[in-house]
Amino acid sequence: MERKVCVVTGSSSGIGAATARLYAERGWNVVVNYSREAAPAEAVAEQCRLHGAEVLVQKCNVADDADCRALAAAVDAKWGRCDVLVNNAGTTKFVAARHLDGLDAADFQAIYAVNVVGAFQMVRALAPLLQRHPPGAVVNMSSVASVTGMGSSIAYAASKGALNTLTLALARALGPAVRVNAIGPGLVDSPWLKNGMGAERYAAAVDGYKARAALAEIIQPEDVARAAWYLGVDAVKTSGEFLAVDGGIRLMPV
Ligand SMILES: NC(=O)c1ccc[n+]([C@@H]2O[C@H](COP(=O)([O-])OP(=O)(O)OC[C@H]3O[C@@H](n4cnc5c(N)ncnc54)[C@H](OP(=O)(O)O)[C@@H]3O)[C@@H](O)[C@H]2O)c1
Repeated sequence: MERKVCVVTGSSSGIGAATARLYAERGWNVVVNYSREAAPAEAVAEQCRLHGAEVLVQKCNVADDADCRALAAAVDAKWGRCDVLVNNAGTTKFVAARHLDGLDAADFQAIYAVNVVGAFQMVRALAPLLQRHPPGAVVNMSSVASVTGMGSSIAYAASKGALNTLTLALARALGPAVRVNAIGPGLVDSPWLKNGMGAERYAAAVDGYKARAALAEIIQPEDVARAAWYLGVDAVKTSGEFLAVDGGIRLMPV
């Protein structure tokens, strides 16, 4: 049987890398995407190839529509199909919520350009391929910040809220051939927060999270990858849904 194809944006690290590896392990071909550094993407691609997957490593800044269209054209040329798109690439600026002057319009625009517009551009570029061999699926990597208003900054939380709404709108627009859902991870053990917060603040955030979350754990990239498999492949009657993978942090008072 022809192998199916999963495009995972931002898959040279963290959640995206774990997702690309899981799809490869389960018999799919994958696109590993990055926007800055090729070497980590090549390393993830090698791990995927160990499972027998064909891998396309593609540099693409999802905020750049020409890059998104070039990625889609490369996928079409190589395999002629895309069964699942995981819109995982994201960006933020770390600014304490009370420090309103720490964010300006340019910060909002830079964050929305990747987290919202980038996700839309990837869907638009890949829609013909997602529709070619139904059922196709899109999985948008939102955040628990989208429903709590917490997280690295107000602009980031708002962008993920917009991504949730984009998920609803695209689920309407692309059905019945393509399902569209979102995942809301909590605090994930990836470079994202470690780099953004620094080691000391990160360690304190992990302790605080474990103390408050119902499941008393932070989230591993592989936990999120399994949710991306579920929504991408198994959840055949689910579209427009938001699935929290947050250890139950939303259940607890702040
Ligand atoms: N970590 C958390 O606690 C957490 C919680 C909730 C939601 N999330 C969401 O999960 C997603 C992945 O986060 P992560 O923790 O796995 O982060 P990560 O380890 O820092 O990885 C981010 C990935 O995105 C790529 N990337 C960044 N900007 C891009 C762009 N404009 N175009 C294409 N690729 C880009 C990076 O590669 P390059 O640097 O080479 O571009 C890298 O591969 C993000 O959408 C984030 O908002 C994370």
